[in-house]
Amino acid sequence: MTTFVLQLSDLHVFAETGAAVRGVPTRASLIEVLEKVRETGLSFDRVVVSGDLTHDEQPESYRVVAELLEEWLDRCHVIPGNHDDRALLREVLVDQTDGSDDGIRFSVATGGWRLIGIDTHVPGEVSGRVAPAMLEWLESELERHPGEPTILFAHHPPIPVGSAWLDGLGLLDPEPLRELICRSRQVRVVSCGHVHQEFCGRLGEAVVMTVPSTGVQFIPLEATSRVDAIAPGFRVFALENFDTAGDATVEQDPAWTSRVVRLAGVTYPAVDE
Ligand SMILES: [Fe+2]
Repeated sequence: MTTFVLQLSDLHVFAETGAAVRGVPTRASLIEVLEKVRETGLSFDRVVVSGDLTHDEQPESYRVVAELLEEWLDRCHVIPGNHDDRALLREVLVDQTDGSDDGIRFSVATGGWRLIGIDTHVPGEVSGRVAPAMLEWLESELERHPGEPTILFAHHPPIPVGSAWLDGLGLLDPEPLRELICRSRQVRVVSCGHVHQEFCGRLGEAVVMTVPSTGVQFIPLEATSRVDAIAPGFRVFALENFDTAGDATVEQDPAWTSRVVRLAGVTYPAVDE
């Protein structure tokens, strides 16, 4: 049986209906992206939203996001990005935000796999950090489930993506997380947001990927911030079931595939500022 996981990222929704980021009205763009999600015809077992749900961090913006995601809320897991307010996020998306005001995280089993999300938000900063308590929690989760192939979700990628300006706004002090990922052999994938573009790299045995924003896109491998004319989108994971009975460690490579799906065309052209 195949388990399907949807990853949405960097929604940047405003309380004001038509408000835009670099010319892209993020609410309208998200609505269009969610229509494309429905068009895939896939029944998603889990939906992960990897941060920056709002741009203005207003309660109304979170309520709008919750309304738009309503049909998936019973299987939705959320972690914050730099453009989020943890307390508001937890207030509006109560059942989708496990953890506390010091750190939101999740760890769920699905189709023989484990999905874990960690919080990299630092209040008032664009860069991220995995706080010692969050790293400790991640370590204990990985130690508790060594036989389950795992996808780790975080807003900030743990490795550079090749864009100097974005890498300068990445994860501060990434070494402890990198080291943990490298020695936790069951972590097959680390999937992140923040960079508003598709990227694929490696960290030890794990594949590190990023996801397009549901709104504005940035051109990959650029030294400075430049918007991309490519359409918004989302990522889909197809995970094959993996029998972990009797396994203390994952020796085989369970099958999985992932792809980015984008809108057929750009409805709201972005503009460089
Ligand atoms: Fe973002």
